Amino acid sequence: MSAEKEFTQLTQQFLFLHMIKTIAVVGAGTMGSGISLAAALKNFPVILCDINGAVLESARKSIDKNLQFLVDKQKIAAQDKFRIEQSIIFTDKISDCRADMVLEAIVENLSVKVELFRQLAAINKEDCILASNTSSLSVSAIQKDIPLPGRVVGMHFFNPAHIMKLVEIVKGDSTTNENAQQLMELCRQIGKVPVLCKDAPGFIVNRVARHFYLEAMHIALSTGTAIEDIDAAMEAAGFKMGPFKLMDLIGMDINLAVSTSLYEAFNEEPRFKPSPLQIDKVNNGNLGRKTGKGFYDYNIK
Ligand code: NAI
Repeated sequence: MSAEKEFTQLTQQFLFLHMIKTIAVVGAGTMGSGISLAAALKNFPVILCDINGAVLESARKSIDKNLQFLVDKQKIAAQDKFRIEQSIIFTDKISDCRADMVLEAIVENLSVKVELFRQLAAINKEDCILASNTSSLSVSAIQKDIPLPGRVVGMHFFNPAHIMKLVEIVKGDSTTNENAQQLMELCRQIGKVPVLCKDAPGFIVNRVARHFYLEAMHIALSTGTAIEDIDAAMEAAGFKMGPFKLMDLIGMDINLAVSTSLYEAFNEEPRFKPSPLQIDKVNNGNLGRKTGKGFYDYNIK
């Protein structure tokens, strides 16, 4: 290839790779606030939207707390904290969510996500990438009825999103290579490690990790082993968090939605059957850290 042609290709690649400059995140709960912080830390202007004003307020507080932690640990300078906070716009209006890439981190429910993407598709430019942070829904199913479905991509962050490096990038049946590659590049720009995944139930991590949670609950229920002992054993065995602490961090509702979704996707295979223990927690509103009570109690002042 001639040097000129090579240079043109490289320039095009460079231009192509830097197209995403503005990001909007819809859903300011556990994941949306962490993802917004991850992007803002790398100097992306972010619009963070939630229909619930109280959630927006706690997202603001949680971002402030996490930034203060980084200042205390001398990971960022004190003056950067103010600048980073100023780069996030909080809003309760979906109509404000116009950007180069809009990521949804709302409830794990197919029809609610599809309805949101319809609204986002209508107010954004045709080349805006619509990303979903879904843990367990099919990206092909989400994009099916969205105009220009090639722009819909799975972008699955892990909790806490401003710390965890992995992001699973999921191509649905219609997702274009270019859009998936753009999100891979965006991940690298915000210091993450993207892994391209098939649109299969649970993608990679949630499918493998399902047994970490389900088997732990099965041990607790069938043998009466204390959850503290199970967590302690798994942590001493090398896991950063025991399964019960991790379920509280994830949120019992989200974790149950993922279990249920995998169970259904695998034609009710018993190995994916949700545990009565997690169903009970959700029915009683004990959703984990976010509600102050799950398997453990938390102070959420
Ligand atoms: P969450 O319950 O903490 O937050 C969801 C937020 O979405 C709520 O604040 C709610 O008010 C808002 N919301 C709901 N419908 C909305 C709409 N139409 N427009 C704007 N805001 C809306 O949920 P979380 O845990 O942040 O999960 C969000 C998504 O991320 C889910 O799809 C979940 O499966 C996925 N996920 C969750 C992880 C976790 O550890 N919690 C890890 C990775 C992915």
